This record gives sequence, C-alpha cells and structure tokens, in this order.
Amino acid sequence: MLQEIRKYLEKYAGKEDFLVEYPKNNNYGDISSNIALVLSKKEARSAMDCAGELKEKIEKNIPEYLDKVEIAEPGFLNFYFNEKYYKDELEKILIQKDKYATSDVGIGKTMIIDYSSPNIAKRFGIGHLRSTVIGQALYNLYKHIGYKVIGDNHLGDWGTQFGTLLYQVNKKGLKETDLSIEKLEELYIEFNEEAKNDEKLWDEARSWFKKLEEGDVEVKKIWKAMVDLSLAEFERVYEILGIHIDKAYGESFYEDYMPQVMKLMREKGFVKKSEGAEIVEFKDMPPAMLTKSDGATTYFTRDLATIHFRIGSWNPDLFIYEVGNEQTLHFRQVFEAARMLGWDKEYIHIGHGLYRWEHGKMSTREGNAIKLDEVLDKAIEKAKEIIEKSETSRGLSDKEMESVAKDVGIGAVKYFDLTHHPKSDIIFDWNKIFMLEGNSAPYLQYTVARINSLIGKTQEKEPEIEKISLNKDSIEIMRLLSRFEGIVINAARNYSPNLVANYLFEVAQKYNYYYNEHKIIGSEEEDLGILLSKAVKIILSSGLYILGINTPEKM
Ligand code: ARG
Repeated sequence: MLQEIRKYLEKYAGKEDFLVEYPKNNNYGDISSNIALVLSKKEARSAMDCAGELKEKIEKNIPEYLDKVEIAEPGFLNFYFNEKYYKDELEKILIQKDKYATSDVGIGKTMIIDYSSPNIAKRFGIGHLRSTVIGQALYNLYKHIGYKVIGDNHLGDWGTQFGTLLYQVNKKGLKETDLSIEKLEELYIEFNEEAKNDEKLWDEARSWFKKLEEGDVEVKKIWKAMVDLSLAEFERVYEILGIHIDKAYGESFYEDYMPQVMKLMREKGFVKKSEGAEIVEFKDMPPAMLTKSDGATTYFTRDLATIHFRIGSWNPDLFIYEVGNEQTLHFRQVFEAARMLGWDKEYIHIGHGLYRWEHGKMSTREGNAIKLDEVLDKAIEKAKEIIEKSETSRGLSDKEMESVAKDVGIGAVKYFDLTHHPKSDIIFDWNKIFMLEGNSAPYLQYTVARINSLIGKTQEKEPEIEKISLNKDSIEIMRLLSRFEGIVINAARNYSPNLVANYLFEVAQKYNYYYNEHKIIGSEEEDLGILLSKAVKIILSSGLYILGINTPEKM
C-alpha cells in the first residue's frame, strides 16, 4: 500500500523524494507522508499551506480505500483507511496466501549473495552459523520482493592454511586414507602450536601451498581428499539446518580466473612492487596484497576474480557478502579495487557480530566456545520436551514427533539469531531461545498450531467475507497484517531480517490477545474470528518461511 499511496501522491506532486511510511503511533493514521514538507522547501512556502492544498485536492477525489486525510504539524499528511480497505486486504491475504506481500520493486534486478562460506579442513562453527542463517533470510527476502537471486557458498578451499596442513601431512607421512575431520583439526592445532616457537614453519607452509598452486599432482590429491571430507561434513550440517545454497564454487575455482584480473590491475597501473610482493594502494586504507613475494595469490585477489566471474555470469546489480565484521577492511579494499576497475555495482558487506557469553568472549583457543553440534543437538532435545508437554501435539506419531522437534529446535536457534540486528553481538542464552511466552520461534510456531487446532474444531468452515463486519480489535490486527509488504521491503533494503522477526512477534502477540479476549467458536463473531485466524496463520508462516523456519501443523 505504501507504493500505491506514493504513486497516488506523485499524481499531485511529481516524482519528488518524499517519504511514505507507517507511523509508529496510531494517532497519526495508517500511513503518513512528509510530501508537503518536501514541496514547501522547493516552492518556498509554508508546509502547512502545501499540506492544506494537497488535502483539498485529495478530498475532491478521494480514493475508495480512504476514510479521511488529516494534516498534522508541521505539515504531515496522515491517511486513514476505511473498513472496506481492511476487508479487501483480508480477502487478499486469504486468496494470495504465501504470495501475499510479494512485490515488484526488484523486478528486472539481480542480486548475488555470498553466504555461509565455511573453511575446508575446519569445523563448521557457530560463526558460520550466523552467516548461514542471516544469509538465507536475506536470500529469501530479496526473492520475495521480486529480485532474481543467486546464492553462492564461497567455500574457503584455497590459501596458505592448506600449506600448513600439507606440511603436517608430509612430515608425518600420512596418506589420503589416514585423514578425517578430527585428524585435520588435530593437525591444524599442532601446526599452530609448533609455529609459535618456530616462525620458519610458516615458510614451509607457504612453500607447500605454492606446490599446490603449481599443480603438483600428489599434493593436489591430498588437498582433494581434505575438500571431500569437509564437504561431506558440511552437507550433514546443512541437512540438519534445512539449508540449500544454489552454488558452491569455492575459492579454488578462481585459480584460472585470477591471472586475467591480475593482468587488468597491472595494465591499469594500480599495482606496485613492494619487497617482492605486488600491492594495491588506496587513498584512505592500508594497501592490499595482490601477490605475495613468492608469487602466490591471496584472498584479496581471489575475491576480485570472483567479482569478475560473477559479473560475467549473471551481471548482478547488487552484491551482498554475509561475512563476519572482522573482514570489514578486506571488503572495503575489494570493493574499492572493483570500482577502480570500472565494475560499477552496488557492493554490500553485512559484517555480522559475534556470539558471546554474558561475561565475555567465546574463544576456541580458550576452549569456552560452544560447538555447533552441541547447540543443535540440545535445541532438538529441548524442543522435544516442549512438544511432549503440549496439548496441541496430541496424535503425533513418533516419526512426526522427530520432524516437529527438528523444526522447533532448529527454528528456535535460527530465530534467536534473527531477532538481533546482524551487526550486533549476541549473548548466547538458552532461556531466551526457548521462551514460550516471549519473542521466540516456538512461541510463533505454537500460535500457528493453535490456529490449526481452532480451524480443525470448526470442521474447516469457510465463511463468506462479504457477510462479516470488522470489530475494533480485528481492525488492529488487520492494520498490522496489511503492513507486511512494507516490512518485507524495508527489511530487505536495510539488510535487517530482524525487522521481520520482530514484526511477527507483534502479530502473534496481538492475535493471542484477540484469542483470549474474544470467544471465537460458537459466538456471533465466529466467522470473523475464523477468517482472521486464517489470515494470521498465513502471515506468520510466510514470515517464518522467509526467515528460513518451518511451521509444523501441530506441536
Ligand atoms: N571463508 C571465509 C571465512 O570463513 C569467508 C568467505 C567470505 N566470502 C568471500 N567472498 N570472501 O572467513
């Protein structure tokens, strides 16, 4: 509706840069605009005058969905919808279902999102969980607003860290068949311990990576074994998380694409020699390294090659990187270099924060980091306990129980992450993840399960919408539901899935209030209650779907 009001106002004011938004406070109507304030600056007259004039014009030809327009100091226009509008929206939700609030703001545009991107030969940790969960939500959000979206899992399968492992494998005389995820982890820790006392080991590691880059057949075989082991492990985690990512090229894929990018950079005169290495200098940042002194390539170079490849393959308008905030400088350098090469696109690094404990950092080194597997196992366990106690779960078979526990447990973990702004740190707290009366996935899923049970009790009755009239509390709910489209657009534009999560919580709270205050079944307002419940269910499940969370029928 925001778009429609905007288009409507543009008829009177032209394509000015004004705001059309949902006011925080209901006293300012259903939609509010600062159009008169913007026009008044341009035309050098009072905003109240401009607003008055616009109000008059609108009232002469008032659109059928509006009840009235009001002016508020210092020149805002506030629009009030009528009952017909809310009934139409209710009908739209019931007909369009999960297509409701899809929009065309992204039609014709392509977005590529780089997310999850764990590192081969390391465990999938809780840090990569953030990237995976937020990345998936952004992926779904952009799809919902009409973008063509490509998700790419930029696996860390290349670079000096493989040198460290290859060195260890060689030193210990290990073969591919001796390797396992645990073994790789062990080798990695051992190397870092030993290298603390012996800096020269890093030269060894670099020279082993060099061998890999030069295509040494034996070395490549060992590397491939490491990649395969890790990929199988990641697949296991993605299966539990219910994640599927369109592409997984990985850093090694860009081996063949790097020379061309390096050549471009050199030809354009952006490269300087420095102690044998090649560096790229920037105006207001430290330099980045294109090649190391031994000629080996870098993470920076691979990211430039990646952009080149992505432009060639999909020509995206927007690039999103969902990667931790410790890589902020890296991405600023990559984006700046891309612009220097004339690749003029929109580049966004989300830069998420960390999970921490109330009293300090989680650190693998200090051994107080939570293991992802532990989190997921425990979440599913806790979900089982909840479901076993719940009345609405009656009649679930053991197998259904397993699947519902997974939806609820994994949903709780994902949702807890997504209620936070991506950039902020998160204090890990089991109680908050599962608070049944608060802002948690189980609370929302449970609200839907309760609606399902209510609909079941009405023998799937399908009331006619023409025959109902809305009461005050139902208008409150409809006001919220009809904002879903705006919330989704806003969340996508601001890269903030938390806006969707917190909105859904508001919807569930308002609905549960309604449910407690109004007797639905057997009352005069039964038909209204049923239709409203169905609409709430559609919004909650479609919002949760966008957040990557399933809504079980029963729980
Ligand atoms: N594998 C990297 C890490 O875990 C993240 C990669 C992010 N994507 C990128 N295009 N650099 O630190």
